[in-house]
Amino acid sequence: MTKSILPKKILYWYDNNKRSLPWRKKLSQVKREYYTLVSEFMLQQTQVVTVVPYFNNFVKDIPNISSLAKFNEHKLLKYWEGLGYYSRVRNLKKTAQILEKDFKGRLPSTIEELKLLPGIGEYTANAIMAIGFNKPFIPLDGNIERVIKRLLNLKLISEISKENLISKKKILGTSIRASDYAQALMELGALICRPKTPLCSQCPLTKNCKSFKNDDFEIIKERKKKIDKFYLLNIYKKNDKFLLIKNIKFSFLKNLKIFPMDEIPKYNNIKKDLNFKISNINMNIIVQFTKINESIPNSYWVDSTKLDSYTLPTFTKKIFSYLEKN
Ligand code: ADE
Repeated sequence: MTKSILPKKILYWYDNNKRSLPWRKKLSQVKREYYTLVSEFMLQQTQVVTVVPYFNNFVKDIPNISSLAKFNEHKLLKYWEGLGYYSRVRNLKKTAQILEKDFKGRLPSTIEELKLLPGIGEYTANAIMAIGFNKPFIPLDGNIERVIKRLLNLKLISEISKENLISKKKILGTSIRASDYAQALMELGALICRPKTPLCSQCPLTKNCKSFKNDDFEIIKERKKKIDKFYLLNIYKKNDKFLLIKNIKFSFLKNLKIFPMDEIPKYNNIKKDLNFKISNINMNIIVQFTKINESIPNSYWVDSTKLDSYTLPTFTKKIFSYLEKN
């Protein structure tokens, strides 16, 4: 196999253009593993600019795997408040506990062992192998997928399947600077090979890029079908206080405080008060005020004038602001 010339070009560009991010600092190997673990969990569904302050705050107070394994779960949620997808932080803590118990507080350095840990799937395992352990793995995130699609001008549904993109990773080659190389590819996708307006005039790969040659920058995405669901949300109000429950019923926002609600059959001709998209669910919500006539288990009266003192998911906060306006 001929050696790819891409790593050299991409790393040269990266060395001159990378953003300074807290998990990219020079770190001891132990810290590098921990910083990679925390940052990759945060970055699973959230953008870099949003993650940075959360990451700094998290590692300041919870500096290593051992402190994370012991950290109070309720307090831990505060560090994630606003990032959403809270199962990530619960899995992160479970992973830290397993690492403490079975791996002497370190991360295992094989992809098979990593994938057995809670919250670590194909992508995150590849990211940890490359970024945390400097092993020649390439994690296929949205940014790197786009770079591959553009380099090869992949447009057909059969060409953009995950399976095909994984098989095309080999065109990117490898580098002994595997950690930098994985991040350089992500950075190129994020800063230059942007979804709508790629900055080709600053790109080190124009000579190698089929999209550039064909003057065709359109990115085709595999459509993830959203499922329409309907919910009736019950507002119980006493002066400034509202009743929230601990969510054990729905698979989203598990164990977090939400307004009591039930899924109802699909309604077409009823006014929906609110709409949220959580994962692949398009949530249509009808709000109704209700009188208490039964005791509701796992419920809390939450003072709407002191919302900052509670740990609430953005979903619930947005409903509070809707109620304030309506
Ligand atoms: N997205 C996922 N992991 C990342 C990283 N380490 N740096 C920048 N963006 C990322």
